[in-house]
Amino acid sequence: MVRKKTSGFDIKDKSLAKAGKERILWADRHMPVLASIRERFEKKKPLKGHRIAACLHVTTETANLMRTLKAGGAEITLCASNPLSTQDDVAASLTCDFGIPTYAIKGEDHKTYYNHINAALDTAPHITMDDGADLVNVLHGQRKDLLEGIVGGTEETTTGVIRLAAMAEQGVLAYPIIAVNDAMTKHLFDNRYGTGQSTLDGIVRATNILLAGSTVVVCGYGWCGRGVAMRAKGMGADVIVTEVDPVRALEAVMDGYRVMPMAEAAAVGDVFITVTGDIHVIRVEHFKKMKDGAVVCNSGHFNVELDLEGLRQAALRVRNTRPFVEEYVLKNGRKEKSVFILAEGRLVNLAAAEGHPAVVMDMSFANQALSVEYLIQNRKEMENQVYVIPEEIDMEIASIKLKAMGVKIDKLTPEQVHYLNSFEMGT
Ligand code: ADE
Repeated sequence: MVRKKTSGFDIKDKSLAKAGKERILWADRHMPVLASIRERFEKKKPLKGHRIAACLHVTTETANLMRTLKAGGAEITLCASNPLSTQDDVAASLTCDFGIPTYAIKGEDHKTYYNHINAALDTAPHITMDDGADLVNVLHGQRKDLLEGIVGGTEETTTGVIRLAAMAEQGVLAYPIIAVNDAMTKHLFDNRYGTGQSTLDGIVRATNILLAGSTVVVCGYGWCGRGVAMRAKGMGADVIVTEVDPVRALEAVMDGYRVMPMAEAAAVGDVFITVTGDIHVIRVEHFKKMKDGAVVCNSGHFNVELDLEGLRQAALRVRNTRPFVEEYVLKNGRKEKSVFILAEGRLVNLAAAEGHPAVVMDMSFANQALSVEYLIQNRKEMENQVYVIPEEIDMEIASIKLKAMGVKIDKLTPEQVHYLNSFEMGT
């Protein structure tokens, strides 16, 4: 294993640090669970002696996670998990104010994106922290020499967990990974309320459209889709859901949405949002059916959900109309029509807005911090598998969050505990 000397960091502009610090501290005010973990980490240093390579969206919330890991004694390097989600002022502040080397520039090209991942790996990490599994993928591909030094890793998102589970299934995963996404205090809140609000935030910031009275097509009814549909309905939109899973489709119907195949929804939607995690959910045949002026975006992890290459080939011309909005002009009989693609088909909530609010990332990132601690403490008993977070961690995070919100709940009485543990009692 070779620990390469790195150039230190790669950010857009150091002079953005002051603004970045203000925003990081603003987010911190809304992250009480992480702050309480940071306080304990500062005293106990449970991560001391461990190097962490983190590949996450470089946002104010991520910055507070990085501060927490550093407080725990870890040596951290951060790189972007998406070329378009980086907040350049945050990258500057992390590097200049908080001593956390960051490799991330908003709008970086494909080559730079992977150079940044490799720069984080050059530190020969003990722990990997991923959002989408690109870091793990590079590590298991071109950087296999580093695998022997790895203690374990964590994964933030549904898409990443699916990729890692496939690696574990095929026996190629070389170390244990905790699926942070699968914690209840992550996906029930971040995926639903975070994606729900931030996706609409991204669409509105990019276009300034009115959602009330518009027809919004939500593709996929997982936790993210449920959140997006719920919030769009709340804003007065007529919501259509498309699904491939019959149970989820049924749930969407009973939640009050119209459900139909994409081939039908294409002709009626004003706004289309993909949140499926799968490839080419909206294809050329669908784009061709859309109304003039249709707005199309993706809030799933990768930019594969829209067939943009197919759309480009079918288009008469493409132009940028305003930040994060590209107009594709298509033939429409003897006329023309336009379809507007937001944020190049990348995560619209992180590219055109600021991602999920800090209040919800607080729980997701508390799971990250406690998972790293758990990995360090339990590595010897763990196999090269994808693990769900232990229930105690989930419960602890929910309890701290409730306390921070000033919400009290009941406790089971001894009689109730006895009742739940006995099978003899009937009517
Ligand atoms: N994923 C979604 N929203 C995020 C945020 N605000 N920070 C980091 N990762 C995110």
